[in-house]
Amino acid sequence: MATQNRENFGGRLAVILAMAGSAIGLGNIWRFPYMVGEHGGAVFVIIYVVCTLLVSLPVFIAEVMIGRRSHTNALDAFARLSRQHPFWKGVGYLSILIPLLIASYYSVIGGWSLDYFFKSCTLTFMRTPPESVSDLFGTFVSSPWAPVLTHLAFLGVSVLVVAGGVKSGIEKFSKITLPVLFALILVILTYSISLPGAGEGVRYLLYPDWSQLTPRTFAYALGQSFYSLSLGMGCIITYGSYVSRKENIVATSAGTALSDLLFAILAGFAIMPAVFAAGIEPGAGPGLIFQSIPFVFAKMGVELPVISAVASILFFLAIIVAAMTSCISLIEVGVAFLVERVHMTRRGACWALFLACGSLGVLCSLSSPVFDFLDWLCSNILLLLMALLAVLFVGFVLPRRVPLDEFTSRGHCPANGRIFPLVYFLIKWVAPIAVVIIFFTNFIL
Ligand code: TRP
Repeated sequence: MATQNRENFGGRLAVILAMAGSAIGLGNIWRFPYMVGEHGGAVFVIIYVVCTLLVSLPVFIAEVMIGRRSHTNALDAFARLSRQHPFWKGVGYLSILIPLLIASYYSVIGGWSLDYFFKSCTLTFMRTPPESVSDLFGTFVSSPWAPVLTHLAFLGVSVLVVAGGVKSGIEKFSKITLPVLFALILVILTYSISLPGAGEGVRYLLYPDWSQLTPRTFAYALGQSFYSLSLGMGCIITYGSYVSRKENIVATSAGTALSDLLFAILAGFAIMPAVFAAGIEPGAGPGLIFQSIPFVFAKMGVELPVISAVASILFFLAIIVAAMTSCISLIEVGVAFLVERVHMTRRGACWALFLACGSLGVLCSLSSPVFDFLDWLCSNILLLLMALLAVLFVGFVLPRRVPLDEFTSRGHCPANGRIFPLVYFLIKWVAPIAVVIIFFTNFIL
C-alpha cells in the first residue's frame, strides 16, 4: 500500500524548513508589497497580521492534521478520512487541480525573476540611469518571446527538482536557500531605508490611514495570508503527509507561520522605502518589485559598484530559489496524486505537469487580463473556499478525538493538550465564520 513506503521528512527542522520553503516565496517578496501598496499601506499590514494569527494559523494546523492523519496525497486524504464520501472526494479533486492553476502563473513570475537575474549578471541596472531603471520592466514584459522562454525555463527546472523526490530534491533545496534569503533581504532593507526620500515609505508602513479601510481590504488581506502560507490547495496537506507521527505539529506550524509573517514584513520594509525613494506609485501592481528593487541597485551602484553587483545577483538568485521551493510544492501536489492514484511513474507525472502548466502559463504570460483573472480567481475565491472546506472538515466531519490525537501527536506532546480547546475553537468557529463573512462582504459591499 502507498502509505507504507512513503518518504518522511528528516526531523523537526527539516519539516519547518520544507514547509517554510513552500510558504516563503513570491507571495512574500512580490505579492505582499504590491498588495500593501494597492490596499492602503499600514492598514493592510495590520489586518494581514491579525488574519494570519487568528485565522490562517489555525487553518494551517488543520491542514497539517489532515495530511498527517491520512498519510496520503490531498485527494485521498479527504476521501479516506471521510470514508469515501462523494462530496469530500470532489473537494479532494479540486485541491489537486487548483495548485496547478497557481503553478502556471506562478512560474511566469518566476521567469521574470530569472530575467532579472540575467540582467544583474550583465550589470544592466548599474549601466542604466536610476531614473529610468523602472522602465526596463515594461520593455521586458511587452516583448513576446523573452517572458515565455524564461517561464518555461523556470518551470522546467522546478519540475526537475520534483522529479528528484521529496527527500533528495525538495528538502536539500530548502535547507540552503532560506537562510541566504533572510540575510539578503536584511542587507537590502538596510540600504533601502537609507535612501533619500525613503522615510515616506517607512511611514506608509507604520502609520495607518483608517480612511483607506474598506470591506475589500479584509478579503484581500485574508486571501494574501492564505496564499502566503500555501493554504487551501493541498500543499500543506501533502507536506503534512510526510511529517512523522511523533512530530509536534503545533510547534512546526507556528514556526512556519511566524517565519513567513516575519519574512513578508521584512520584504515590505525592504521594498516600500525604495518605492517612495524612486518615486514609483505604491499601487503600481504586479510589477512593483521589478521596478523598485533595481532602483536600489542602480543607486547603490553609483557609490558601491562591486557591492551592488554582487548583492543584485545574489538577491535575484535567492528570489528564484524561494519561488522555486514554492512552485515545487505546488507541483508536488499533482505528482503525489498522479503517482499514487493514476500509478504513473514519478518522471511521467512530472512531464505531464510540465506540459499542462507550461501551456497555461504561456497564455498568462502573453495576456495580462488572463494573468490577473487567474490570480484573482485563485487567491480571492478558490483559496478562501478551499481553506473553509478544510477547517469545516476538521471541525465538523472528523470526530473531536481525531484532531485531539493529532494535536498531541498521539500522546507524544501532551503539553499541547492544554491549548487544544482554544485552537479547536478557532478551527471550528472563528476561522469558518471569518472566511464566510469576509467572502460575502467582498461581493456584496
Ligand atoms: N506560498 C507561496 C508563496 O508565498 C506560494 C504557494 C505555494 C501557494 N503553494 C501554494 C499559494 C498553495 C497558494 C496555495 O509564494
